[in-house]
Amino acid sequence: MKSRHWWERDDLCYVDGRLTFAGHDVCALAEKTVGPLYLYSSDRIVANLQRLTRALEQTGGDHQIYYAMKANRFEPLLTMIARTGLCGVDICSPDELDRALASGFAPAQISFTGTGVSNADLDRLLQHPDIHINCDTIGMIRRIGERRPNSAIGIRVNPAMGTGYDESEKLTYSGNGTTKFGIYREQWNEALAMAREYGLTVDTLHFHVGCGYLSGQLDQWERAVEACALFLKDLPDVRAVNIGGGLGLPHRVEDDLLDLGRWADILARHIGSKSPYAGLTIAVEPGDFIVKDAGMLILSVCDVEMKRDTLFAYVNGGFNLAPEPAFYDLPCEPVVCILPADNDPLVPVTIAGNINEALDIWAKDHPMPKLAEGDYIAFINAGGYASSMASNHCMRGQATERLL
Ligand SMILES: Cc1ncc(COP(=O)(O)O)c(C=O)c1O
Repeated sequence: MKSRHWWERDDLCYVDGRLTFAGHDVCALAEKTVGPLYLYSSDRIVANLQRLTRALEQTGGDHQIYYAMKANRFEPLLTMIARTGLCGVDICSPDELDRALASGFAPAQISFTGTGVSNADLDRLLQHPDIHINCDTIGMIRRIGERRPNSAIGIRVNPAMGTGYDESEKLTYSGNGTTKFGIYREQWNEALAMAREYGLTVDTLHFHVGCGYLSGQLDQWERAVEACALFLKDLPDVRAVNIGGGLGLPHRVEDDLLDLGRWADILARHIGSKSPYAGLTIAVEPGDFIVKDAGMLILSVCDVEMKRDTLFAYVNGGFNLAPEPAFYDLPCEPVVCILPADNDPLVPVTIAGNINEALDIWAKDHPMPKLAEGDYIAFINAGGYASSMASNHCMRGQATERLL
């Protein structure tokens, strides 16, 4: 067998030259399926939830995970997550609310943080008094106050500081540039006055400063957490701080892991047991961290052709099935399902999808074994923001999803 690749782990590795995932032979599963196939591992999802729970225990206080279902809302997967009892769920639309309830989450386990929230959205959400709602604008505070005065709300703040994968601007939700998310410091007094006017109690401070951060971004993330903690002194009734999601995982060989020990220590010092705010519940609402590395998309090669100096392998699925590589430069590393013989050299291959868009490229000049028509390629890290963001562009949106 060849040496381990950077992404290999006990439940995702080659066994006798064949890719195995969650104890299954990936090629064999793909052969039984017509067209693109997403596979998800229940065990990996549970392991990710448990890793995060252990890290939160280090903050020394109460904690709560809300799985961000926008990352993956496949019904069997959601039902499985609800059954673990390890977390609640973060939703961002009324339809997500319906799906969360249908999957077995109780209203009290549901936290809503949305943007562009209409009155029609609010009317549906407020039918369930136990759902927790975080407000993204002062207008939203007013409109909740009009509908349900003297109740409890959360407020999402924007500390004008944030970070994301590789310091990507697109993945930073509260950076130097003005973003649409959360209430800025200069709006804060007006927001609090609006809550007071309607007798609303602010029991949760919420922030989500970016997506995909790893250890290299933790210094900047700490500055953002510190800036958010400053809002707490104006909230006498606060019981929880929801720190959003954004915890990242490696996408490329050069990426480091997120150091969860350091992450927990930052939380403990600024809002947890070692801070002046000891006693508050720390809530976190990760999507990617729970499901992304628990999923893959398997496509098959339909054509291989040299064009000028580039060797193209065309596969039977495009960026519409997993848009993050094209939108955010967050690659899904292509991995062959059957390893070639040891002495076969790797060659640079550009893997192209089946959508009529120039950006529909899975990987450029990626070192791969020689590919042939009919070979299966697994695109790893496709468990989050792949099927949930997929479209039917070019009417090529059909795919099968399976929870293992
Ligand atoms: C408010 C909020 N919470 C949680 C998440 C989940 O983020 P991630 O999947 O990066 O953990 C997002 C993602 O955009 C978000 O906007």
